[in-house]
Amino acid sequence: MIKACVIGWPISHSRSPLIHGYWLKKYGIDGSYSRHPVEPTSLAGFIGGLDGAGFAGCNVTIPHKEAVFNLVERADETTERLGAVNTVYLRHGKVLGTNTDGEGFINSLRQHAPSLRLAGSRAMVLGAGGASLAVVNAILEQGAEGVVVANRTREKAQQLRNRFGLRVVPIEWHEIPDRLASCSLLVNTTSLGMTGQPELDIDLSQLSQDTIVTDIVYTPLRTKLLEQAAVRGNIVVEGLGMLLHQAVRGFSLWFGVTPVVTEELHDLIARDIDPDFSP
Ligand code: ATR
Repeated sequence: MIKACVIGWPISHSRSPLIHGYWLKKYGIDGSYSRHPVEPTSLAGFIGGLDGAGFAGCNVTIPHKEAVFNLVERADETTERLGAVNTVYLRHGKVLGTNTDGEGFINSLRQHAPSLRLAGSRAMVLGAGGASLAVVNAILEQGAEGVVVANRTREKAQQLRNRFGLRVVPIEWHEIPDRLASCSLLVNTTSLGMTGQPELDIDLSQLSQDTIVTDIVYTPLRTKLLEQAAVRGNIVVEGLGMLLHQAVRGFSLWFGVTPVVTEELHDLIARDIDPDFSP
């Protein structure tokens, strides 16, 4: 029996057990995927004790991603650049860390907006927190010419430029409408628009018809930003796709099977988020 889990503080909201549980059943694997609330003070002990407790690894969520980066013995290049780990796995007794948020973001776009070409393009990213870091890095890794970043706290957008270089262009929040026209992709990485948070309210009147609009928020499944863009006729990509696709590599590392993100899995998680969801 292979065991994996997700850790966070708090953790009750996590849908990862539902996702991995679906795949374990689908592929007939003798495994389990549990959820564990881990306080910051217990984190080092938990990660150090994974092997002894019989875990093949774990997912890491808020607020532990940066702390776990400092606890793993080795991380790959992308993860080093992000300084944050969302997936831990054991190899020959060593605790290794990686980050699958960027590939989750890109593979969701590939699935739902296959016409998008990021190489040589310009993107706009709203927000400059932890999620933005992974998204901006992923867009740059795809060869984008530039990523315009708007954030309430400008200093944090500037920090992304310091980290990633001159292809990152910080702008003021009020500049968003004028800058939209030249972007192939618009991404919200802020918590605005999430259930219980204030709405993200931006003027899309200058948005090109060809711009693909996506949100990493997936509660609600279709945010107001996506709704507004869809009404204008733009292709929109919901945030749930990123959640599903970021889970793929962890499952493969722990259980040895690369799982497929199916419609059936999507609908299962969508119904958990919104009981009224219908395909
Ligand atoms: P995450 O890891 O999910 O990215 P985070 O690092 O706390 O979380 O980042 C949250 C993002 O949402 C930030 O870009 C934040 O802007 P600030 O850097 O100015 O804090 C943005 N955000 C949160 N609440 C906001 C609000 N009310 N108005 C504008 N931006 C907001």
